[in-house]
Amino acid sequence: MLGTPSAETGESVVSGASVEAGHEGPYPASETHAHPEEVQRRGERIASLWFVIAFLGGVGFLVSYYLFPPSAQDVPAIADPRIGQYSNMLLGGTLAVALFGIGAGMTVWARRVMPHYEVSSPYDDLPSSEKEKGSFGDFFMKSADESGFTRRPLMRRTLIAAMLPLGLAPIVLLRDTGPLPGDKLRDTPWAEGVRMVVEGTDRFIRAEDLESEPNGMITALPYVVHEGGHGEGGHGGGEGESARYAEGYHLSLNDKAKSVILLIKIPEGDYKSGMTETVEGQDEPRINWTHNGIVAYSKICTHVGCPAALYERTTHRILCPCHQSTFDAANAAEVVFGPAHRPLPQLPIGVDDEGYLSRRATSPSRPGRRSGTTRRTSR
Ligand code: FES
Repeated sequence: MLGTPSAETGESVVSGASVEAGHEGPYPASETHAHPEEVQRRGERIASLWFVIAFLGGVGFLVSYYLFPPSAQDVPAIADPRIGQYSNMLLGGTLAVALFGIGAGMTVWARRVMPHYEVSSPYDDLPSSEKEKGSFGDFFMKSADESGFTRRPLMRRTLIAAMLPLGLAPIVLLRDTGPLPGDKLRDTPWAEGVRMVVEGTDRFIRAEDLESEPNGMITALPYVVHEGGHGEGGHGGGEGESARYAEGYHLSLNDKAKSVILLIKIPEGDYKSGMTETVEGQDEPRINWTHNGIVAYSKICTHVGCPAALYERTTHRILCPCHQSTFDAANAAEVVFGPAHRPLPQLPIGVDDEGYLSRRATSPSRPGRRSGTTRRTSR
């Protein structure tokens, strides 16, 4: 039976009668104040009752967690604020009952069942003597027995039962970390030929637009219209100059978060050696991924994902305001300061037939072929 002590340890060392006659616990009887047996038994029943309440609270917590499953579209039901409120109240309430029940039971146990000592001890040298170390095992077992843990099966079993749901809770809550993203993080709306629009507008971008920008920097998004929108991916937006203002694009917030980029105009003579390197899996140097001095980097900081939104034109430094990671836009967005470890990913850009900036095609390297003396870096 769960929690049942072995036969050898079942003998009581503290009972109402034996306490008075002679105490065999870790401390001498003269220093021990044990409760009468009736008080201990009543304490055991009260503590067990609390542990049963704690058990019910713990089970209630697990049940409450599953009461609000994700919808068929994988949208958590608690995304609705009203449902979220009920979920929070149930989870918080049941967890409070479980923890309070265990605490109350432990308190009753300590006050009504365990003996009390008045102990004084001189300040000895900190390391224990060999004799003390050798007697620790005996001392521990005697203390466990005297505490009632081995002698009070009702209390012990209800305590174990109360702890079980709480022990399971962290494992159950791991469900919140799923579902696993699979390949989703490798997808991007930046398919070849996709035009870019100024963030917050529907305006396509020409290379000349960067000239007139006082900071030489524009935040852009891919122009992608999902099904049901005004067009289907790619160029969209109509013909000729009228296409400069697209009718609308529909990116989910997730897509936007993943695909927002910085377009930065840098005098071509200011580019540094990092731009002559190739990206892993590609055959051409990074400088070929620029257009008329315009380079495109992801705006998502490689530290923990804040928008790296500050740009200093004179030094070509991109700064993330969250923890001050700084990237050199003229040198393949190499990290020059701060906690980020990786450069900002670069997007290859060019212009399409109508002169709008868009994601250009790249030339993946063929197996076994290296391009000249350039060094490869990860994207
Ligand atoms: S998120 Fe950018 S520095 Fe921390």
